[in-house]
Amino acid sequence: MHKILFVCLGNICRSPSAEAVFAAKAKSAHLPVIVDSAGTGNWHVGEAPYGPMQAAAKLRNYDLSPLRARQFTAADFNGFDLIVAMDEANLRDIERLRPAGNDTPVTLMMSYAPETGVTAVPDPYYTRDFDAALDLIEVASEGLLATLRA
Ligand code: 4NP
Repeated sequence: MHKILFVCLGNICRSPSAEAVFAAKAKSAHLPVIVDSAGTGNWHVGEAPYGPMQAAAKLRNYDLSPLRARQFTAADFNGFDLIVAMDEANLRDIERLRPAGNDTPVTLMMSYAPETGVTAVPDPYYTRDFDAALDLIEVASEGLLATLRA
């Protein structure tokens, strides 16, 4: 069973979307996975995903409403076998908390969709382009799924 944690900054836009999108695609593919998401920051802990993000996701049949934000912790390195960061800043903040001797891989979400030519999922909380974020998350989720099945 793959245990995968998606991580962004606030855990209210990109990583909850990645969690829901990837979970749906894995389910369709009959690939058993445990998924979760977290934020490197603590501002939104306990909150549901951001309203406009939920609305954009719902139009694509992803329900983010049950999710609640939590902060990434060093213990997550032991709870998951893959940690997927939405951008390079997330990746650096995650790596700063790596326990000594832990070798859990931390990858970039967009590394699973090299054909896009982008390395990060731009933060829609700032860009306001929630559909662009979902487009990237969907294609990268397909790539991650293919990687896990290979
Ligand atoms: P996310 O977007 O990292 O995709 O969840 C953000 C949402 C809120 C904040 C930062 C990023 N914030 O600083 O409040």
